[in-house]
Amino acid sequence: MNDAAVLRPGKLPEFLPVAKAVIPAAGLGTRFLPATKVQPKEMLPIIDTPTIQFVVQEVVDAGITDILIITGKGKRSIEDHFDRSWELEEALAKNGHADLLQQMRDISNMANIHYIRQKEFVGLGDAIYYSKQHVAGEPFAVLLGDTIVDTPGVTATRQLMDFYQVWRCPVIAVEEVPRDKVSRYGVIQGKQIDDRTYIVEDLIEKPTPEEAPSTLAIGGRYVLTPSIFEFIERTPKGKGGEIQITDALRMLCKQERLYAYRFDGKRHDIGNRLDYMKSSVEFAIRRKDIGEEFREFILELAETLRKEASS
Ligand code: G1P
Repeated sequence: MNDAAVLRPGKLPEFLPVAKAVIPAAGLGTRFLPATKVQPKEMLPIIDTPTIQFVVQEVVDAGITDILIITGKGKRSIEDHFDRSWELEEALAKNGHADLLQQMRDISNMANIHYIRQKEFVGLGDAIYYSKQHVAGEPFAVLLGDTIVDTPGVTATRQLMDFYQVWRCPVIAVEEVPRDKVSRYGVIQGKQIDDRTYIVEDLIEKPTPEEAPSTLAIGGRYVLTPSIFEFIERTPKGKGGEIQITDALRMLCKQERLYAYRFDGKRHDIGNRLDYMKSSVEFAIRRKDIGEEFREFILELAETLRKEASS
């Protein structure tokens, strides 16, 4: 036998960059009833822009144009929003609203958006499992459709993608939250390896403040590799009787390297009434068109409230 042939190394597995994004948007939105009785929570607007449009923009800004949105019953308006609306375009053109017309066209050209419907509301893990065929063996980004992440520089998704490019392992975005709020989130236990990076050793979905191993909460952005699907298949129903992605990741981190990255930016959870109001105010203050007047209104209101409180 030819020795050279025996010693020749095998072909290294090809490294694939993240080129696909999955946006789960199938949840019932119970925390926002009655607004979400017939309207998806992902379509709740921040001023005039549906939340999911910010999320799609984050994907596009990260350089990804292939998006799979996991929808479900009652979510059809999401598809309509990213489609063309001929009647509306015609009316805008006829009435001389060139800017608005362009804006509407731009929305339908943002990305190549595919849709699949989750048949039963049995949790985020199950929703993500619906993307198995679409991601077809490639790494992929996951962005929760009811969460906006505002970043000073590159988007949160891009931060995770850049991390993945170097470390080549799945990574989840985390942020510090007050201990009395941990029960709203998945929380990690990790070994810190630098200012922003942790090796995940354990995860717990919605722990009590006493149970929580840390105050590092999962922030609704993930870069996952296809091995997650095997773990989801083995994940029993957990918190709320749902198949939790946190539980699947918990199994994964015992067998594979999983990182958590404390991203640079601020998360806005739109599915929560109080956060929704806070986010709307913050975004309105920064808007070019209404920001100045709105800021004055807020200052006047604050002054009135202060006087009321001290009288
Ligand atoms: C989901 C995840 C949770 C994560 C949270 C972030 O929970 O299950 O781990 O911390 O999103 O918003 P949900 O808000 O859908 O209940």
